[in-house]
Amino acid sequence: VVDLDRVRDGVSLAIRSVSPFPVLVTFALKASYLHPVLEAVREEGAGVSVFSELELGLARRAGFADNSIVYNGCGRSGRELAAAAASGATVNIESLGELADLLRQDLRLPIEIGVRVNSRGLLDGAPEKYEVLGVPADSLFEFADLLIGRNIRLAGVSFHAFANRRDGAGHLALLQAIIPVVGRLSGHPVADLQYVDVGGGFASRMDIRDDDAAGFFRAIAGALHGALGVRTVFELGRFLVADAEDVVARVLDVRERSDGSRAAILDVTTNYLIPAPGHDFRIVSCGTPEREHDAGCPESELSGDANVGPVVFVDRLGSEICRQPASRVTAGANVLVRNLGAYAGVMKEMFVFGTPRQWFRKDGRLFPGVSQEIDFAAYHGWDTSEQGHPRLWT
Ligand SMILES: Cc1ncc(COP(=O)(O)O)c(C=O)c1O
Repeated sequence: VVDLDRVRDGVSLAIRSVSPFPVLVTFALKASYLHPVLEAVREEGAGVSVFSELELGLARRAGFADNSIVYNGCGRSGRELAAAAASGATVNIESLGELADLLRQDLRLPIEIGVRVNSRGLLDGAPEKYEVLGVPADSLFEFADLLIGRNIRLAGVSFHAFANRRDGAGHLALLQAIIPVVGRLSGHPVADLQYVDVGGGFASRMDIRDDDAAGFFRAIAGALHGALGVRTVFELGRFLVADAEDVVARVLDVRERSDGSRAAILDVTTNYLIPAPGHDFRIVSCGTPEREHDAGCPESELSGDANVGPVVFVDRLGSEICRQPASRVTAGANVLVRNLGAYAGVMKEMFVFGTPRQWFRKDGRLFPGVSQEIDFAAYHGWDTSEQGHPRLWT
């Protein structure tokens, strides 16, 4: 069940909280490829940030105006970068290699580009994963020098350095390090810096109080506008969609584990409960009357006896989904697996056991999505042509 009202509310929270500072709030498309989700964020006034040509095409099909699209990526060809920049999308160049290929193109000038800066060395304790992409801070001038005399403006700087953060402290600390770097770059003759793109990296709304989220969006946008006079671009993925999607599952059995704890097997598979870094699934009873979106979501009605240890919820392959107090869990019960709207089913292959049927919630009403069984068959090559042969590559 995908709650589009919740998605819209997240966009609205972000946009409202930063006023009067200039921002572009975008949805990081890779966090959910569901078309109704894209429609919901667009209708609420968000742009979209994409990471590949395929995603760029999806964003256009979903009706996003080119000037509301932010195009990130890695290893892109000069041809596709040139086309995206000419369309008016915000294009963040990832490396000197990408720039070199862009400059080999027959460009329709003038154009604007941004540069992704690598956060390595700027902040202690940021996850190493995010130190790989981007132009090192000490090569930014070399990058800008390549634009001299070409009628290409350097219009922005982007970075993405965090995942699943519950507070804005890390972002703010990184800003303190990045602001002087961007400030120096703004003195370069090709620089006309309009925006700083701070990427995503905020935790699910289930784990952040709305007031806190609003506070740090505002603090970030205010810091950047105050120090550099620029617009802030947010690329929100998990924050907007993680807690907007639940799976309704059945407890297939409850079994003893060797350490005496209990395992409850659910009729789901990890293919749609992807163990993405920082995932934080929660199980609540289907009878839980009110969805509780604020931080400190109740443990659910599944927990009764506080003296009974946590139950380990596993999928049909035995992989752990989460562990939590659930003394009342019994075989046959229906439960909701919560907080799985981000990156579920996107980063992994299609599902071992078929795909779940979808429902969407909009304006307080539920309406059905399509059954995905047909797509499942096609994806795995089970569709046959009229001659009865597998329909491969046609
Ligand atoms: C460049 C960029 N922007 C935004 C995001 C979205 O991140 P999140 O889901 O943590 O908000 C990612 C995720 O990897 C990213 O790489």
